[in-house]
Amino acid sequence: MFTKQLFWVALLVVSVNSQSVLKGIKASIKDGSGSRDIVINDLKDLAEAYELRIEDQRLPELTHDCLKNLDRLDTLVIKRCGLQNIHSDAFKSLTSLRILDLSRNKIENVDKVFIGLNVWRVNLSMNHLSLIGDDAFDNMPKLRVLELDNNRLTKINTNWFKGSPKVFRLQMDNNKITQIPKAAFKRMDTEAALDIWLMDNRIEKIHTMAFEGVKKLDTLWLTNNKISSITGEMFEDVVKIRSFYIDRNALRCIDDSALTHIAVEQFSIDRNPISCECLRVIKKWAKKSDVELSSASIGLGCLRDRIEELFEKQKQFYEDQLDRAERREDIK
Ligand SMILES: *[C@@H]1O[C@H](CO)[C@@H](O)[C@H](O)[C@H]1NC(C)=O
Repeated sequence: MFTKQLFWVALLVVSVNSQSVLKGIKASIKDGSGSRDIVINDLKDLAEAYELRIEDQRLPELTHDCLKNLDRLDTLVIKRCGLQNIHSDAFKSLTSLRILDLSRNKIENVDKVFIGLNVWRVNLSMNHLSLIGDDAFDNMPKLRVLELDNNRLTKINTNWFKGSPKVFRLQMDNNKITQIPKAAFKRMDTEAALDIWLMDNRIEKIHTMAFEGVKKLDTLWLTNNKISSITGEMFEDVVKIRSFYIDRNALRCIDDSALTHIAVEQFSIDRNPISCECLRVIKKWAKKSDVELSSASIGLGCLRDRIEELFEKQKQFYEDQLDRAERREDIK
């Protein structure tokens, strides 16, 4: 009796496993004979595909074998599918894969999923990631771009990218990051010009050695944070920055040491509470050092000072009026 039950349970497990989670899912594929929309029935349908796109389907889980034998697959997009659980071996057999887009899902955990993959780009934007372990992106020798924007991350993990020396772009816009720690980007491709995107976070503090080891920056995007100070020391190793955006922060001025140290081509400092006095210094520096200041910061820069000045003038005007009125009263 007992063994009979066990048999049925075992049979059930086997049949559930062999039923791919992709069966019945709508997808677009590209292969040698062009591109078309299909309903996946058997993995053999996909064997020749070099691009597979699954969008707006219900696919909460990727099992260990649901993507096997897709030797030609170069691009895999699984987007807006409510994807939550990914088996650590799900992508391991995709030897040709370069582009992996898992954006707009519900992924909370990616430990072990990407380790050792040969992909060039991973897009995890718009997921539910709040914590990513030290080794999540280890031994990915070809990884160049990692997109983590629009998640719930609170930290830049300085231990990422061991054995992944080609990463030149890290996108972490719109997360909950509060600081840039020491040597935050040291394992990225410091021979290349890096792109660091940290717009719309809560960064208050940049460690004085945050950019240790970084030689060139193509784009440093720090718009809409709470940064109140940048110093020359922070950029000691950085020889050149092409575009530096630090709009909408809490800068009252920019340290002299920063102005002498930072070699930047385009500098954007709009909507900071910068004083007129300081703006004059910055403009002078920009002219001398051939820096392109964002146009709005030239026009609107010291708005706070000007408003205060205006209030002062108005106050003076009313006080004068009052004085005169009083004098008239006296004469009567
Ligand atoms: C990554 O995903 C987001 C959200 O779907 C999308 O806007 C962005 O273009 C993607 N990145 C690339 C390089 O395709």
